[in-house]
Amino acid sequence: MESPDDLCPKPEHLAIGFTRPHSPPIYLSSVWECDDPAQADAMLGGRTPGYVYARDGHPNADMLAEKCRKLHGTERAAVTSSGMSALALVLLSQLAPGDHVIVSNQLYGRTATLFTGEAARWGVTHTLVDPTDLAQVTAAVTRNTRLLVVETISNPLLRIADLAALADLADASGAMLLADNTFAGPAVCRPAALGAQWVMESLTKSMNGHSDVVLGLICGRESHWARVPSALSTWGLNAGPMECWLALRGLGTLAIRAERACDNAQAVAESLVGASGVAAVHYPGLAAHPDHALAKRQFADRFGSMVTFTLSGGEAAAAAFIQAAEQIAFCPSLGELATTLSHPASTSHRALTPAAREALGITGGTIRLSVGIESREAVVAAVRQGLSAIG
Ligand SMILES: Cc1ncc(COP(=O)(O)O)c(C=O)c1O
Repeated sequence: MESPDDLCPKPEHLAIGFTRPHSPPIYLSSVWECDDPAQADAMLGGRTPGYVYARDGHPNADMLAEKCRKLHGTERAAVTSSGMSALALVLLSQLAPGDHVIVSNQLYGRTATLFTGEAARWGVTHTLVDPTDLAQVTAAVTRNTRLLVVETISNPLLRIADLAALADLADASGAMLLADNTFAGPAVCRPAALGAQWVMESLTKSMNGHSDVVLGLICGRESHWARVPSALSTWGLNAGPMECWLALRGLGTLAIRAERACDNAQAVAESLVGASGVAAVHYPGLAAHPDHALAKRQFADRFGSMVTFTLSGGEAAAAAFIQAAEQIAFCPSLGELATTLSHPASTSHRALTPAAREALGITGGTIRLSVGIESREAVVAAVRQGLSAIG
């Protein structure tokens, strides 16, 4: 019989027996036992596989990264603590003082801050461009350009970047294309197949799909991977086991969630066209969208689950819509099971001046919907209920 005083120091080993669990276990252990110093040295040096310390790697992160790697068809993939840390990992592992980055002027606000403000503190310069204007991107290339940062589908007006053309341009300039694929997701677009060297996803959004984790993914090529594991561990950008486990579970239903959400988004966009009080509808699946032809070529027959529209009544109409649309939560995120909405002027783009917002086509009346997997009738009715307040 053991004394209660002796229980702590000894690890308990559960005899699993002769069967294995069908659902992946959650490995919460922060540290792993090594057989001997030679094995520890080989594992820490990356010469043999295995786990030593969870900041360097753990099975739940590896299971999730491997699924995502296959999904994006890349040579390497890593999971990080957030979408932002996945982007920071590219900055920290690939760029050095004196490098130059071409940055889309239609990025998620914090991504823009990372590659302009934060990067500048490390001696990395940048030029902002409209990524849909290839001549402008070409003109921005300098001798020191190392990276081109774009989003597959931009926020909030859902413009599409021509990833194949941008990847060719990056290649010809000795630079790399980094595509933030968060608004599209792999069910709609796989940027690596179009030539992007780096593909980033905020797993927080549709890939997990349940609004219960914050996680990121970076996929890349073997040739540029050497510094990634060390930068990930040294800067402490690793993801926790519980979040990875949840995201792996969420990912299992991505295909059917994406199919339903994209079909719903198309129906919602069509229902908004010509509706009273609606000045413009932005959805790549509409023939009138400026990038519809490109989206048809570049995407897997789907156009995403985001729909943005502008109310002619401006801020007051947006407030009335948000109040009246009782079935649609005002949540400034995206990609969850239920339809949610955001108001870019007061959330994602509030740091911009009104003039800068206007230049991007964002007004007080702009509303961004993240369309969910409810029945099509329910989503269209929920939007109609909102519109009833402004008709
Ligand atoms: C397009 C895009 N990229 C990156 C991010 C950052 O991801 P995370 O919130 O997981 O850090 C977001 C978050 O909203 C986003 O919308």
